[in-house]
Amino acid sequence: MCGIVGYIGHRKAYPIVLKGLQRLEYRGYDSAGIAIFDGSDIKLSKTKGKVADLQDRLEKEIPTEGNLAFGHTRWATHGVPNDVNSHPHYSNSQNLAIIHNGIIENYGTLRQELIKRGYTFTSETDTEVLVNLIEEIKIKEGVKLGKAVQIALNEVVGAYAITVFDKERPHELVVARLGSPLAIGVGEEEFFIASDASPFIEYTKNAIYLEDGEMAIVSREKGVRIRKIKNDKQVAANVQELKMNLEQIEKGGYEHFMLKEIYEQPNAISDTFRGRMRPKSGIIKMAGIDDNFEKFKNAKRIIIIACGTSWHAGLVAEYIIEELVRTPVEVEYASEFRYRNPIIYPDDVVIAISQSGETADTMAAIKLAKKSGAFVFGVCNVVGSSISRETHAGAYTHAGPEIGVASTKAFTTQITVLVIMSLKLAKEKGTITHTEYHNYLQELDLIPEKVKEALTCNDHVKTVAAKYKEASNFLYLGRGYNFPVALEGALKLKEISYIHAEGYPAAEMKHGPIALIDEQMPVVVIATRKGHYEKVVSNIQEIKSRKGKIIGIVTKGDKAVKELADYVIEVPETSELLTPLLTTIPLQLLSYHIAVMLDKNVDQPRNLAKSVTVE
Ligand code: F6R
Repeated sequence: MCGIVGYIGHRKAYPIVLKGLQRLEYRGYDSAGIAIFDGSDIKLSKTKGKVADLQDRLEKEIPTEGNLAFGHTRWATHGVPNDVNSHPHYSNSQNLAIIHNGIIENYGTLRQELIKRGYTFTSETDTEVLVNLIEEIKIKEGVKLGKAVQIALNEVVGAYAITVFDKERPHELVVARLGSPLAIGVGEEEFFIASDASPFIEYTKNAIYLEDGEMAIVSREKGVRIRKIKNDKQVAANVQELKMNLEQIEKGGYEHFMLKEIYEQPNAISDTFRGRMRPKSGIIKMAGIDDNFEKFKNAKRIIIIACGTSWHAGLVAEYIIEELVRTPVEVEYASEFRYRNPIIYPDDVVIAISQSGETADTMAAIKLAKKSGAFVFGVCNVVGSSISRETHAGAYTHAGPEIGVASTKAFTTQITVLVIMSLKLAKEKGTITHTEYHNYLQELDLIPEKVKEALTCNDHVKTVAAKYKEASNFLYLGRGYNFPVALEGALKLKEISYIHAEGYPAAEMKHGPIALIDEQMPVVVIATRKGHYEKVVSNIQEIKSRKGKIIGIVTKGDKAVKELADYVIEVPETSELLTPLLTTIPLQLLSYHIAVMLDKNVDQPRNLAKSVTVE
């Protein structure tokens, strides 16, 4: 996820684009850049860091005059965050420049073809490949920029929202989208381009939201002309009147970033698959595994190190890896591991999981593991983060920036990456059958749609939240793959509502926690149909006979739990191994609504920070 902004009109463009980028920084903030057309050339300044760093640099580096400019705030996907990989990117001739939000999956092949035809590349990005492809088509076919963009986009596979400028056509910007958002603000003889309407809300309330598969030529002389990228069909511009305020727009209309991020999960999980998994042909491609397969194959043991929510994802992975890959797994709190003189063998594989990639304890644990000669593999969200650089290899989750302090989409995308890894390893090692492998791939492919369906429980969860918001304690129970989900549900509630909550394996109740049960105690029980169901139903009966209040998280169509529970929340059916990706959803929503009802600061809970870079 990145933010893009553009302006063409009668005003000075630079301050509009700069302010717009500041508003879009929530979409990505590892680097930023702006291109300004000075009447004859495209002047460009970009840097690793925040928009404020860019401002310092740009104002010393290039003149800021000009009525056309466009800029980008980056959330790295291809290539680490550095000055060179930052956008905008020039074409080889420097006649064209581009900004891009998204991922071009076939950029490697396109890049090789362009190199054969004499093109050179300064960055590691997919975006620089795209702008040179457009340039090549423009020259070879003798077409204008709009046509060249259209032909190029029909050759690329992936997701994008782009803005392209050609200094030979100084009155227009060409924009297009597929899978990434793009809005055009329509003013009086001026136009604004942006990932959402926040950069132009004070200039115009009229906006066109491009649909997937559409492109537009935005011209000071001819207005906005929209076409379908695939078949060149003209589309009438649908100008909408914006009714939202600035804050609502940044949060995509959601009240809090946390809720927005909960709802982003179907897309975030799809982005995690993108370019890695082809269910129809049964192919999983993961460079970090492909290049180091022998290490994983020969490992006698996998040690997972992480903290907090990432540690919970590690626990889910323990169950999944042992089931599919049949390699023993140990899951360690990084903060304990680093100080307890652990036994690490050179043929251990250590997997470090971290959303931020900056957690100090996880970082220290990685260094310790490396010292012992183990191979360390990172699962991070933030591209180019310290942990992603410190590990020998890794896989990014591609969840996009997570702003809410309580992790939501980071958790489900971490599990997704670990499932894909496990399936790949299991297939290569022959620890699952061909049929099992294909069935899991098909099921995994359906997960984004099923997460969408799970999210429809929101209103019902609100009712449950209203009923139990005054409780002082909560218990969360689960078994197997859903035991770590119970821990995660309890952590979410503690973090943002400050209600004491504990997660337990359901069968452990009788060894102590059952003493806590009385009519004041809400107990959230995850009881999916294939997960030791009868045993969990017995556990529910035990709670019921002690007058505990039961909230069951069940598979759609469940009957037995419904009869016993005070409330049930249904999730769609899937293979048991993938249920954590669905059962987590109502638990995230439950903690969210309780916190909102208790008037807590959901996105920035007390005493917490998004990235824990201290011990
Ligand atoms: C919980 C939460 C924290 C983090 C933990 C590790 O909602 O956000 O528990 O999961 O601090 O952070 P990362 O994953 O960035 O290493």
